[in-house]
Amino acid sequence: MSKPVKVASSAQVKENKPLAVRVDDKKIVLIRYQGQVLAFRDSCPHQGAPLSHGVIKDGRLICMYHGWKFNLSDGSFTGNPQLKLKRFDVREKNGEVFVDVG
Ligand code: FES
Repeated sequence: MSKPVKVASSAQVKENKPLAVRVDDKKIVLIRYQGQVLAFRDSCPHQGAPLSHGVIKDGRLICMYHGWKFNLSDGSFTGNPQLKLKRFDVREKNGEVFVDVG
């Protein structure tokens, strides 16, 4: 059973501004969207670009390298919903953000 790890303060995770963090050897991108913090693997499934360099638009994370778009609701790729970003459980408590990397 894994234990959630503190990765950032709540203030560091700004609305629609992807933030790269690390937990052990895992690269994670944090995104605050509509007030909620989301956490995905920080690697585009296309060619591995850091998604923390992407932009948020219309509920989607857009990879800056070749423009693939991922729905923030579930991490699915808009071109093929079967392809999803790895998503991690996130919790905010007392002004801090915790991620469970499993
Ligand atoms: S590496 Fe992300 S779209 Fe190509």
